This record gives sequence, C-alpha cells and structure tokens, in this order.
Amino acid sequence: MSGSALFETFARAPLAFERGEGSWLITEGGERYLDFAGGIAVNSLGHSHPHLVEALTEQAAKLWHVSNLYQIPGQSRLGERLAENSFADRVFFTNSGAEALECAIKTARRYQYVNGHPERYRVITFEGAFHGRTLATIAAGGQAKYLEGFGPKVEGFDQVAFDDIDAAEKLIGPETAAILLEPVQGEGGIRPFPTQSLKRLRQLCDKHGLLLIFDEVQCGIGRTGKLFAHEWAGVNPDLMAIAKGIGGGFPMGACLATEEAASAMTAGVHGTTFGGNPLAMAVGNAVLDVVLEEGFLDEVSRKALLIKQGLAAIADEFPDVIEGIRGSGLMLGLKCTMPNTKVNMALRDHKLLAVPAGDNVIRLLPPLTTSDADIQEALARIRAGAASLSKAAASGG
Ligand SMILES: Cc1ncc(COP(=O)(O)O)c(C=O)c1O
Repeated sequence: MSGSALFETFARAPLAFERGEGSWLITEGGERYLDFAGGIAVNSLGHSHPHLVEALTEQAAKLWHVSNLYQIPGQSRLGERLAENSFADRVFFTNSGAEALECAIKTARRYQYVNGHPERYRVITFEGAFHGRTLATIAAGGQAKYLEGFGPKVEGFDQVAFDDIDAAEKLIGPETAAILLEPVQGEGGIRPFPTQSLKRLRQLCDKHGLLLIFDEVQCGIGRTGKLFAHEWAGVNPDLMAIAKGIGGGFPMGACLATEEAASAMTAGVHGTTFGGNPLAMAVGNAVLDVVLEEGFLDEVSRKALLIKQGLAAIADEFPDVIEGIRGSGLMLGLKCTMPNTKVNMALRDHKLLAVPAGDNVIRLLPPLTTSDADIQEALARIRAGAASLSKAAASGG
C-alpha cells in the first residue's frame, strides 16, 4: 500500500477484503479468514446480516439525511427503545464513540454548572482507559503515547490506577464533576472492574454529588451477554456512551442519560450535523431487533462458555504462549506469555483475525451471531497457532 495518499496513522496488515459473510471475511483472491476481530467489536451481527442489509437498503431508497432541524421518526424510535431497555430516559445520537464520550463529558459538566456548581468540571478516570482520539478523550484516556505532540492536555482529567477505588475517593475534590470508566476495559487488555468496585463508585458519586459515566462503546450491546455490561453488577450510571455494536458496521454512537443528567442539555447547548440520521437509525433499530429477540443474549452467554472452555484448554496445553484467559461474554482476552504481536501474527498465519490490546493481551471479539461450528474452527486455528509458536520457541526460534 506504499505510495498511498492516506495518512500513515494506521499500521495496517497487508490484507484487503472484498466481502464478508457472517463470521468470515473473504479477500479478492478468495482466501477466507475467520473474523474474530469483528472490526474491533463493531460487527455485532457479523458481516452482511440479511436483516441489516434489508434495513439499510430499504432506508437508502427512501431518505438519507435531513439534519436535526426536523423530526426523525427512526431516531425517536431508537431513542425510546434504548431508554426502555436501560437505566436511561434520554438519548443523544452521534457518529462515533469519541463523540458519544464528548457528549457525556459535556453533559456532566453542564449538569454541575446549571445545578449551582460551575466550579465542578474535573473528571476522574482510570489507567488503561481508552475513550477515543479527540483532544478531550485523549486527555480522559490519559495515555502518554496518544497525548504526545498534541499541545497542552485538555484540562480537567485526573487519573488513578486501574480499579484503585481508594485513590479515586482521595482524589475527589471541590472541582470534581464526574467519574468515568469502561466497566470492562477493552484496549486496556480486557479488564473487567469487579462488581464491588462499581458499587463503591456509585456510592461515592451519590455521596459527593458526582455523575457516574460508563463508557460501553466496546463492551455494550450484548457483547458480555447482557445488553449492557454494567447490568451484571446491578449498578446504573447517570450517563453512558455507546457506539460500535449498535451500528453493526454503520458508523454511529449515542450518549444515554437519566432525565436529571440530561435536563442540563437544553436547546442549542450541543449539536451534530450527522448524528442520528435516518440511515444510521434504520440500522441501529435493526440491530436492536435482533439483539433484543428472546433468547439472543442467553445464546451469547452459552457460546461464550464454549469458547472460554476451549481457550482454557489451549492455555493449559501451551503455557509458554498463553498465560491465561480473561473477559466476559464474547469479549475475551488471551493474556500472552510471549509478545502479543507475535501471537497475533501466528493467528493471522492460520487465517484467524484477532486484535492486540494493552497488557500483552490478544482480544477476541467475534460476532455475537457466530455459530458453534465457527467457534470450533476458531479454537482449532488458535490451537494450531499456539502449537507452532510453542514449537518454534522450543527450538530457539
Ligand atoms: C471503550 C472505547 N471508548 C471509546 C472509543 C472511541 O470510539 P471511536 O473510535 O468510535 O471514536 C473506543 C474505540 O475503540 C473504545 O473502545
């Protein structure tokens, strides 16, 4: 791909796909790859899901865009459905995860402002977090490699170690507005926050008048076997950012809020040109049609158990390659013994796509619709990849 006019911001694999079918991606030359990267947790229903294709093409023949100057029935409907199926009362639609986070952060600050606390604007976050690539979300994520060279870090973000709730409590001051976290860190290495920690954070927010913001851009929309990951802990946020899986491959996101938190966002204080447009809403509603079908989420949990058991056996067999398995539902991490980039390459050599993450982990994010046969095939390929790495390591390679 050299000589390309594109920014060189991505270390792309030398692979181009022409089409996708379910859990599979197919190159122009007809090579089939088993896609357990899922566009980094985006392809929630796999590739070319007939219901999504129909929803998008039907809408494309009718109306693409009108702007938020007008009523958008599909947007009202999707908003109501998200609210009915979550803690939320109000929804603001965006085009991406980072924009959903921007909306959540702005809403938290504005909430404090209109409730007589303009001094409260700081947000506490956790190490290993990833919240996007805008100037505010790189500040929220706090990772030096994403902040370097982009001028002064956006003011107002304070970070503590992963899951250090005591440190978060100590950091709460007169200027604190909110606490922000991913219930299961994705890029940070598939690290779930313990239920007890989420409960303590909720209590801290209530005690100090702070808003609790969950980033479920990666772990939401059925990925963990519940519609939203925080449901496992029984702890509700005041604000939540989602994206990725809700669009199933169509770019969209949303900020969900309680009535109280959203009350600060009155006419004109926030906006978007594309967010919530008819095409995105048609797809978002179609994704929910499938994910909310009775038994769908139970199937995600059943398949998750199947793959987890298989992975645990592979880790037992090749401890020199894989140290352990972590994660929740179909958001799984292989903690690697050898460099995760090496493991990722070996998996790709066996035509299995996965995604490296922090903490030397490989992420597996298959479509929620993946079949038992695809899972068995993936396990066979992962085992073969691990076996080849183990053999090479044993012979000093
Ligand atoms: C947890 C989390 N938050 C936010 C984002 C940013 O989303 P986007 O890339 O759509 O802006 C991501 C993307 O990987 C993510 O995983």
